[in-house]
Amino acid sequence: MDHFIYRKGVLHAEGVSIAKIAAQVGTPFYVYSTATLERHFRLFDEALGGLDHLVCYAMKAASNQAIIKTLAALGAGMDVVSGGEYIRAITAGVPPERIVFSGVGKTRAEMEMIVSGGVRQVNVESEPEMELLNTVALKFGVQVPITVRINPDVDAKTHAKIATGRSENKFGIPISRAKEVYGLAASLNGLKVVGIDVHIGSQLTDLEPFAQAYRKIADLTHILRQDGHEINRLDLGGGLGIPYSRSNETLPLPKDYGDLIKREVGHLGCEVEIEPGRLIVGNAGLLVSSVIYIKEGEGQKFLIVDAAMNDLIRPAMYEAHHEIVPVNEPPVGQEPHTYDVVGPVCESGDTFAKQRDLAELYDGDLVAFRSAGAYGAVMASEYNSRPLIPEVLVKEDEFAVIRPRPTLEEMINRDNLPVWL
Ligand code: LLP
Repeated sequence: MDHFIYRKGVLHAEGVSIAKIAAQVGTPFYVYSTATLERHFRLFDEALGGLDHLVCYAMKAASNQAIIKTLAALGAGMDVVSGGEYIRAITAGVPPERIVFSGVGKTRAEMEMIVSGGVRQVNVESEPEMELLNTVALKFGVQVPITVRINPDVDAKTHAKIATGRSENKFGIPISRAKEVYGLAASLNGLKVVGIDVHIGSQLTDLEPFAQAYRKIADLTHILRQDGHEINRLDLGGGLGIPYSRSNETLPLPKDYGDLIKREVGHLGCEVEIEPGRLIVGNAGLLVSSVIYIKEGEGQKFLIVDAAMNDLIRPAMYEAHHEIVPVNEPPVGQEPHTYDVVGPVCESGDTFAKQRDLAELYDGDLVAFRSAGAYGAVMASEYNSRPLIPEVLVKEDEFAVIRPRPTLEEMINRDNLPVWL
């Protein structure tokens, strides 16, 4: 469920007309709904009710300060994967004890930043990383709480580019080597083992892979406890999928996922963390764009819009489907028109949808790409010298530009000329 609905024939974000925002901000832009963000966070929080838990929003999905602050105000923790995300979280006022540091290639500089600034735990992914973190911890005279990310060798049954839990993926330590690696961790004075971490992939539409992975983690918890390790915390990762199209709206809900967690690991007496990103922000955001031209091809009609693959790369990168809806509600009973929806970038890959049935559209009409809140703005680039597009946040009847569109001058002035030019 989200808060993007037609009112009096015009698509609204909560109480604000998308057409009104477009008139003031210009297209293309991203717009997020506060009520939807808050609702999705609470669904997870409630789903884990009864367990000692912390929902750590995976900031990589959308990391604008306003989004982080909105979620932090509800008690969210943050899952960060770089020094940049850590500083974003701190700047938004998230207490360090609610920040979890994940990632497969943490640098020494990043470790020094988070060890000196404070962190809830570091999820360690390899032995060399563990040894470097130990060195950094000893330098600062502290003990850093850690988990080890376990690769459970489970097929998440999602797109290959976002599956992370098979042994051939670069993530985590093979479960077969867990005993040995926890043994190493226990021997390092700068580290304090607090638990286990696992994350098997993103956009999971079936709960079974989670169940398989969490069962393995539960078994491992017993084994490691027998070895004398204090396993009091399980970070179970993110990954719950969202409906991108109306045909797959029967996906598992946070409540089902929470029940599964309770069933698989609830008896262990551990504090549970989860790291959802997409489900919190994905359907809380739209990408709004204008039709520039309609071009008649040989066998198809191209709807050329002013957003492109540099603004939303998911279709080009993952063959992702995003629903496209007109901002002006089409009359009931109108025959659909079929379009290839494309952007202006000079690549055939800059195609949002092929042979998509939409309302009849004209030059200048506004369209919205749904489910664009997660991995949309954060993955944008300035390819073709197209400036990053604005982000807008709506709350009830108000809206605010939470990241303005840079001018062309600002974009170009970031370049420096060497002395010889
Ligand atoms: N935790 C870890 C360690 C992760 O690597 C990720 C996502 C998450 C949590 C959050 O997963 P989520 O709940 O959002 O599924 N750009 C891709 C998705 C990449 C996901 C990367 N890791 C896309 O647009 O589909």
